[in-house]
Amino acid sequence: MTIIVTGGAGFIGSNFIFHMLDAHPEDRIVCLDKLTYAGNLSTLRDVMDRPNFRFVRLDICDREGVYRLFEEEHPDIVVNFAAESHVDRSIEDPSVFLQTNIIGTSVLMDACRKYGIGRFHQVGTDEVYGDLPLDRPDLFFTEETPIRTSSPYSSSKAGADLLVMAYHRTFGLPVTVSRCSNNYGPYQFPEKLIPLMIANCLNDKPLPVYGEGLNVRDWLYVEDHCKAIDLILRKGRVGEVYNIGGHNEMRNIDIVKLICRALDKPESLITHVTDRKGHDMRYAIDPAKIHRELGWLPETKFEDGIRRTIAWYLEHRDWWQEIISGEYQNYYEKMYGNRGTV
Ligand code: NAD
Ligand code: DAU
Repeated sequence: MTIIVTGGAGFIGSNFIFHMLDAHPEDRIVCLDKLTYAGNLSTLRDVMDRPNFRFVRLDICDREGVYRLFEEEHPDIVVNFAAESHVDRSIEDPSVFLQTNIIGTSVLMDACRKYGIGRFHQVGTDEVYGDLPLDRPDLFFTEETPIRTSSPYSSSKAGADLLVMAYHRTFGLPVTVSRCSNNYGPYQFPEKLIPLMIANCLNDKPLPVYGEGLNVRDWLYVEDHCKAIDLILRKGRVGEVYNIGGHNEMRNIDIVKLICRALDKPESLITHVTDRKGHDMRYAIDPAKIHRELGWLPETKFEDGIRRTIAWYLEHRDWWQEIISGEYQNYYEKMYGNRGTV
């Protein structure tokens, strides 16, 4: 099979490519990525020369380029990871989120309709369900939970999900959608909570916790997410949505304190800064459907996953130091430089 993986130079897409090349060496993987600020070709260095791997620099919104690639590769499957993925950036400027996340997804699906496809898989997020109250630990997101978005990012991802289901109903496109909770692991861009806090700890910089840090996220090791998507591609039912999560809820402040302890840094580095606008309080996935139908369960315990992740950032300083020394400095200054403390 030939599988086009979009956004494969980013965090989850690259981990998915590594998983697929290991688990299914008989398949050909074509990575399509625009290489935005979040895409990093050095991440794919170890697989670049594999005979069953090809990298193509391309924007998923570039219709002509996408059609040309489909003519060349005749893909059996497309897995769409390509997206603008950072909530804070979507609050600063929503427009590119609408362009890539919605228009880009429709261009890919138009190519799938034109050239034929075995499966189009959309990598979605639990953020499309909005948030849950902290005082109702009995509530979880199921696939039936209504879409109720908070940020331009989650709205653009919800728009994409709705479009994917519409292409299935209207045009009979064989689609699946997965909605995952927060991922952590190697190669995550240091703008996101866990790698940002690790990098700042190692540089003895303040650790900017939004508000009181009581918001809860449901953390899943990236490899477990990749295995779940692989399973959906092979055994999932067309036209279905699958939630992916491992019942691993943690408060932001506890994650940050844990990272301080692991790196032997003082908690006095923690700085409570002005909260994110529209900040979702709690995410919590009910993964019963994917467990029941496909037998998926997360394999990595949080204490093992976070230890491996911290060790990875310690061993791969070059990878993230190169990122935070470039254009990212301007972003950091803009987002955190004038942010008030609370
Ligand atoms: P990321 O920001 O690390 O990577 C995104 C990748 O997409 C980058 O390589 C970037 O260059 C590429 N890209 C962006 N715009 C593009 C375009 N127009 N054309 C082609 N390539 C483009 O993101 P991530 O954290 O790896 O997330 C991947 C997907 O998973 C996203 O769709 C995201 O919404 C979803 N998701 C992420 C998480 C998480 O915790 N990170 C959880 C659930 C779902
Ligand atoms: O739930 C899935 C989503 O998880 C994905 O769809 C998104 O692509 C991904 O970015 C992530 O979104 P979050 O907004 O939850 O992740 P982020 O790492 O940006 O923030 C996690 C929590 O930590 C959130 O409550 C905000 C807080 N935070 C974040 C940063 C960057 C801080 O307190 N300080 C920070 O500096």
